[in-house]
Amino acid sequence: MPATVIVGAQWGDEGKGKIVDLLAQSSDVVCRYQGGPNAGHTVIVGGETFKFRHLPSGILSGKVSVLGAGCVVDPEVLLEEIDGLEERGISSDPLKISGNAHLIMPWHIALDGAGEKRLGKLQIGTTRRGIGPAYADKAARLGIRVQDLLDAKILRQKIETALAEKNIWLERVYELEPFELEDVASRYEGFAQRLRPFVADTSLLVDEAIRDGRNVLLEGAQGTLLDLDHGTYPFVTSSNPIAGAAATGIGIGPTRIDRVMGVAKAYVTRVGEGPFPTEIVGPDQERLRELGGEYGTVTGRQRRCGWLDLVGLRYAVRLNGMTSLALTKLDVLSSFAELPVCVRYRLRDGTETDEFPAHQSDFHHCEPVYETLPGWHEPLDAIDDVATLPQAARDYVDFVEERLGVEVCLIGTGASRERVLSRRGVEAVLS
Ligand code: IMP
Repeated sequence: MPATVIVGAQWGDEGKGKIVDLLAQSSDVVCRYQGGPNAGHTVIVGGETFKFRHLPSGILSGKVSVLGAGCVVDPEVLLEEIDGLEERGISSDPLKISGNAHLIMPWHIALDGAGEKRLGKLQIGTTRRGIGPAYADKAARLGIRVQDLLDAKILRQKIETALAEKNIWLERVYELEPFELEDVASRYEGFAQRLRPFVADTSLLVDEAIRDGRNVLLEGAQGTLLDLDHGTYPFVTSSNPIAGAAATGIGIGPTRIDRVMGVAKAYVTRVGEGPFPTEIVGPDQERLRELGGEYGTVTGRQRRCGWLDLVGLRYAVRLNGMTSLALTKLDVLSSFAELPVCVRYRLRDGTETDEFPAHQSDFHHCEPVYETLPGWHEPLDAIDDVATLPQAARDYVDFVEERLGVEVCLIGTGASRERVLSRRGVEAVLS
């Protein structure tokens, strides 16, 4: 069974895009199973930088690229990305969008921003792209789906039904301007014309690809700790990034998936609010941010930076049933003399645990217990083989592997595709 899930093991921004782009070279189909244009990922190929929010990274390699039913789609953002690709001579033909995916509508974006403003100090720090409100409407069965774009009459009716409620919220609760039916309907009819050729039965397409023995990558957005059910609620996204959601998000059975690769940075970052035990206090935080270029791909927001947290990672190994791990951005740690790694949490009652706390208050108040590993004091950019990494860098990776009980199969040492080192060869990672 050649289906592999690639899942973020921390709070997102782990460098999944680059890993997926690399593995896409040896794959036939690349799918996103949840999320929307929340933040984005950067992929550098042949010196060219690509920034995507919606498109699966596989599109760069001309692979069939699927947006599954579990995704929420902002047609305007998606069309901008498609146009951007075409301008650079890359075809968007391999893109396939599930008709069951939900659309982000203009009121979702307005309500996301207004909701955050209203929360004030309690805000979640969302990307304000309308993701949460779009998923909320999906669950409330008020959502408008990609397949509604295929029928102008249905589309108009659904917009009208939604606006009857949304405009009341916008005007009376948030004191914002309402939306006009005509404006929204004509804009979305325009999007419909352009997106129509991409709509496909993606559940069938992916299932058939797996049955035919083709290599399928299932790419999660964000990360494990932002999972709606198992992350650091309420400071989470509104869908399920964890690997189990790949089956529901695409519409294949869980027995079709046999491999789950986690992606983690060699340290940790987080954007938005919420608890973060290993967040660095002091100048090393700023240093790590600058060295790692830790600013949002699209929003430009500063990412909070911290030392590697093996308690959080062990939780990610468990939640995802992780079978291997890609450790990215190891090079960013090169100029630190000492590298603290969190191996346990100390709880308020003084006890120590290496399990992720099940209760929010324990997590909010825990203190990290560190073991400090030596740094390697040399850049990693010229290294193209795991065997020639400095001994201390190899020890760092071995430490992670041993504590997690999961093989580290890929190691990121720089921004480009070529700077991902593999212990067994990329082909072997997928076989
Ligand atoms: P939302 O997904 O825009 O609703 O944001 C909810 C939380 O998830 C916020 O803390 C965001 O900063 C975070 N988040 C959403 N998307 C990403 C991502 O791609 N990378 C990192 N954090 C994200």
